[in-house]
Amino acid sequence: MTRAIILSGGWGTRLRPLTCTIPKTLIPVLNTPVIEREILMLKKAGVEEIVLAVSVMSRELKNYFQNGEKWDVKIEYTNEQSPMGTAGALKLAESFLKDDNFFMLNGDVILNFNFKEMLTTHNKYGGIGTIASRLVSNPARYGVLIIKEETQKIEKFLEKEKYALTGDNRDKMPVNAGVYILEPEIFSFIEPKKKISIEKDTFPKVAQTGKLYHYSISGIWKDIGKPYELLNGNILLMKDILKQSDSNEENLIKESADIHPSAKINPPVCIGENVIINKDCIIGPNVVIGNDVYIEQNCEIKESLIYQESYFSQNSKIEKAILSDNCHIRKDVILKGIGKNLIILASYVEVENEIKLIAPSTHSITVCHHEKVKNNIIN
Ligand code: GTP
Repeated sequence: MTRAIILSGGWGTRLRPLTCTIPKTLIPVLNTPVIEREILMLKKAGVEEIVLAVSVMSRELKNYFQNGEKWDVKIEYTNEQSPMGTAGALKLAESFLKDDNFFMLNGDVILNFNFKEMLTTHNKYGGIGTIASRLVSNPARYGVLIIKEETQKIEKFLEKEKYALTGDNRDKMPVNAGVYILEPEIFSFIEPKKKISIEKDTFPKVAQTGKLYHYSISGIWKDIGKPYELLNGNILLMKDILKQSDSNEENLIKESADIHPSAKINPPVCIGENVIINKDCIIGPNVVIGNDVYIEQNCEIKESLIYQESYFSQNSKIEKAILSDNCHIRKDVILKGIGKNLIILASYVEVENEIKLIAPSTHSITVCHHEKVKNNIIN
């Protein structure tokens, strides 16, 4: 096997307004797009040719990856005029994938496991498909796999709604992790030119033939579907990378970052290229700062993601926030999320002097791209 398909054409509605200017799979995780991390992992497992199934904001993805030369892989594209669903998108790549088994990945998951071992297991089972499964303690959000222990076959899928109705959401249960190995036979289960979901429509049919298996993964796994998961996924990956590293580093800081000696860094933080942090700032814990961000004196940032090229004027306090690229936070601003409810600013947002945005306990506060925030929101 040398090929893979990565799904990268969804709307990403739950991550709006971030996904109004950045396709979901190009959203940075520790300053590298989530899909780029997957491509690097596939390459490590020996995959040489990848088809990206694109649709929404396809131009941005094509511009970013082009033909894949920069990553030393061959990248091709299938283009849906409007999203065809996960199986509909796969069907469009049939001619590219028809000769051998292949990996299929959702383009929005943060993971770190051995793809080669999964392939060995798939070949041993000899089924039409193997789904990576992950034990989670809140399975109602994902839909549960019902597995026959003796054979490791997937017998059926419990929809999110049905599982929630059982009322027992505390046990760890296996869910679909969005990574599959499939045989070309899968294409005979998908009708052409229709919007079809592989999870809801195709896999249940394959399970009925008794030829669908699971492969249990451990370690870090997180889909970045919602803002809090995106924040949390960054933090988990940062801790995982630091834990696995041989050095005793507590942070991931690029050498070109210029941090004033009086600034305090509370680990763990990830700081990108050419970031400037001025005197008396307090950064961290759990902060990711993208390339070319400028932070004036006496700012405090914790539990937040800051994308590239943003500018912070002095005395601003940021907590539990996600700021997309090129935001401008003026003097004495307070942005404060609470629990899972964050402050989310899309690209090119400007926040005026002394503004306070404090999230209520019921929902996040979101600001669309290019907007100027002139009024407080305090609950
Ligand atoms: P939400 O709108 O927030 O649910 O996000 P989404 O549209 O990305 O949907 P979901 O999280 O279910 O998608 C999982 C993965 O499949 C993501 O990588 C999507 O980009 C991709 N995906 C979802 N639907 C389609 C589709 O119709 N076509 C293609 N090519 N990819 C899709």
